[in-house]
Parts: sequence; structure tokens; C-alpha cells
Amino acid sequence: MDVKAHWEKVYTNKAPDAVSWYRRHLETSLALIERAVPAREAAIIDVGGGESTLVDDLLLRGYKDLTVLDVSGTAIEVTKRRLGTAAGQVRWLIGDILEIGLETHAYDLWHDRAVFHFLTTPEQRVTYVRQVARTVRSGGHVIVSTFGPEGPVKCSGLDVVRYHAESLHGEFGGRFRLVESSEELHPTPSGTTQQFLYCYCRVD
Ligand SMILES: C[S@@+](CC[C@H](N)C(=O)[O-])C[C@H]1O[C@@H](n2cnc3c(N)ncnc32)[C@H](O)[C@@H]1O
Repeated sequence: MDVKAHWEKVYTNKAPDAVSWYRRHLETSLALIERAVPAREAAIIDVGGGESTLVDDLLLRGYKDLTVLDVSGTAIEVTKRRLGTAAGQVRWLIGDILEIGLETHAYDLWHDRAVFHFLTTPEQRVTYVRQVARTVRSGGHVIVSTFGPEGPVKCSGLDVVRYHAESLHGEFGGRFRLVESSEELHPTPSGTTQQFLYCYCRVD
């Protein structure tokens, strides 16, 4: 499967507020981020940020060191356009999280909503966790949200892995200390509901 081609097609064909994962604001992510890193200088990366408004809301709250990464250049362009001049305050990275070279110990907080669950092989998940372990500083924070145990088996036409807090945390291992987890019922634009799981870990 050509991951980039898939996502470019999705974002070329669908309006930002028409995709199933659309939310006007990622309230749960925002609350966790503000609690984890109250200092506005914290280096935050949103992995697979797509067209979400998380970056807009973090800028509004005064966060100064933001990176948004996505495999889709189309999604990044839409988000940059929406932000206008404020886009200049953000670092934008286009690439596959399993392949892109990120700076070592660059981030205080790693955020991922609905990307990790697309990694359906153990090798992909190990590669992802290695990226997190290498790029998040000691004492840093990792917030990962996937579909929960009652969530859909597919997202955007792709197979996903659904997680309990224990199984998601289990993918990350001992250096990642689970601080809290929660489930969220996400109302999709088409009127259905999807169960999401949030896990928040500290990196030792
Ligand atoms: C379901 S969407 C979620 C978007 C956003 N996080 C949100 O919550 O609105 C998944 C996003 O991850 C991106 N993505 C999928 N696989 C990726 C990968 N291997 N590397 C980087 N981004 C990826 C897609 O382009 C898409 O924007």
C-alpha cells in the first residue's frame, strides 16, 4: 500500500470537515497537552496532524515551539492556508513517520491522534516506538490516541488495530510510564459514533 498516495487522495477529495475523524476542536488532546506541558516554550510535535485544528488552538494558547508532521503535503497546505501568517510560527514536516529523520531529543511532547492505529505489523510499531524513544526528551510526554476496543475496524478504508490502555501501553514498553488513559465517544460528521482511546505516558 502506498501510504502517501492514499492520504493525498483522501485530502484532495474531501473537505476538512467531511472526514470521519473531524472535530471542530480536539478538546481532549488540548486539555492533556496543557496539563502535561504548561510552559509555552515546550517543543511539541503533532504527528499525522493532517488538517486538524490542534495547531490553531495551540498557537491561540501561546505555544511557541510547534511542529506538525504529516505524510500528506495536501493536508499540510490546507492547514497552512487556514492559519495564514500564523503558519510562519510553525515547523512543517512532510513525510512518513516510519521513515523521516527527526532530530534526537528534540521534543517535550509527542501527540498522535489516529495515526498509530494504522500500523498493523509489529515491525511498523517497533519502528514508530523507536522514533518516539529517540526524539522525545527524558522526562517528556507522549499522548497517543487510537480507536478503542469498541471502535471501528477500519478508518479511511484502511485496517486499524484497536487498543485497550494496557495493550497500547504494552506496545511502548517500560521506559514509557502510563500516567492516565481515557475513552472518548467521537461523533463523526456523518452521524455515527466512534470510540477513541487516549493514553498519556511520561518518558523516563
Ligand atoms: C485519521 S487522520 C487524523 C488526523 C489528525 N491527527 C486528526 O486527529 O484530525 C490520520 C492522519 O495521519 C496521517 N498519516 C497516516 N499515516 C502516516 C504516516 N505513516 N506518517 C505520517 N503521517 C501519516 C494522514 O495523512 C492523516 O492526516
